[in-house]
Amino acid sequence: MRILLTGKNGQLGRCFQDVLTETNHELFAYGSTELNIADASLVAAVVQQVNPDIIVNAAAYTAVDKAETDSENAYLVNATGPELLAKQAAALNIPLIHVSTDYVFDGEAIMPYLPSDKTNPQGVYGASKLAGERAAIAACDKYIILRTSWVFSEYGNNFVKTMVRLAKERDALSVVADQYGCPTYAGDLAKAILHICEQHEQDKPLAWGTYHYCGDTPTSWHGFARAIFAKAELSGVIAKRPQLKAISSDQYPTPAKRPEYSIMSTESLSIIGVSPSDWLSVLNKSLINQ
Ligand SMILES: NC(=O)c1ccc[n+]([C@@H]2O[C@H](COP(=O)([O-])OP(=O)(O)OC[C@H]3O[C@@H](n4cnc5c(N)ncnc54)[C@H](OP(=O)(O)O)[C@@H]3O)[C@@H](O)[C@H]2O)c1
Repeated sequence: MRILLTGKNGQLGRCFQDVLTETNHELFAYGSTELNIADASLVAAVVQQVNPDIIVNAAAYTAVDKAETDSENAYLVNATGPELLAKQAAALNIPLIHVSTDYVFDGEAIMPYLPSDKTNPQGVYGASKLAGERAAIAACDKYIILRTSWVFSEYGNNFVKTMVRLAKERDALSVVADQYGCPTYAGDLAKAILHICEQHEQDKPLAWGTYHYCGDTPTSWHGFARAIFAKAELSGVIAKRPQLKAISSDQYPTPAKRPEYSIMSTESLSIIGVSPSDWLSVLNKSLINQ
């Protein structure tokens, strides 16, 4: 199968390339310098030249706080980009696998969010990702949108790496304890995407639509940090756990408001034959090479 991947240098992009090495699929992977997904003529030229069987969009503007003052670029990458890819997918009659975020929700829920629940993004990043979902849905029929959350991996910048670095530098750390969500290992998400691609290759019927792909064990940032320190100490990545203090979101102001509750229900994933991320089991992997 010929797979076109955008965002090859990101966490998900790199994990997807890793899982592809164990397969015989032909991968055509692009970073932002080779394929700016907001450039209509470039997107059309690359897609037509590659003539893929499926497109996987792992590219995104992910700087949540910076997006508040850089909304034009956030919308170009997160809304125009998926729209252009979806239009090309429709033209070739092939599927688009697109990745979105828990930040499309406002965090006011008291039960895990279902894919059909009302969206109400609180910041530019979430709003631009929601615009991308809608644009992709409007432009093509064959799409799988996977909303994910709290992504970590052995690559790039993420919460796990930040916590490990800070644990090496400090004896005590304060971490927000009143925001709840589901950590997701990018390698698990990559495997899920590959599984979806292979179902399409085997002509198995796929229920096109929007799904939630995230970890199976919800926690707070504070709980996530505690789990990271426990694993890091056990595997010898850090010599000693720092003292961990629970603070409220008010004590850690950020330019973009984060949803207090962004736990997503992954129940409908069984429809597309994939399981949620077992993030606790894989935590060790992203601690390697710290
Ligand atoms: N990280 C999280 O916690 C999180 C949470 C919820 C949802 N998500 C979603 O999950 C997906 C994967 O996230 P990630 O953590 O892998 O992101 P990431 O590590 O920030 O990678 C994003 C990649 O997008 C590429 N990119 C940026 N602008 C581009 C453009 N105009 N054209 C083409 N590529 C462009 C960048 O490429 P270059 O490096 O080549 O410049 C970058 O490598 C995204 O859709 C994101 O919104 C992430």
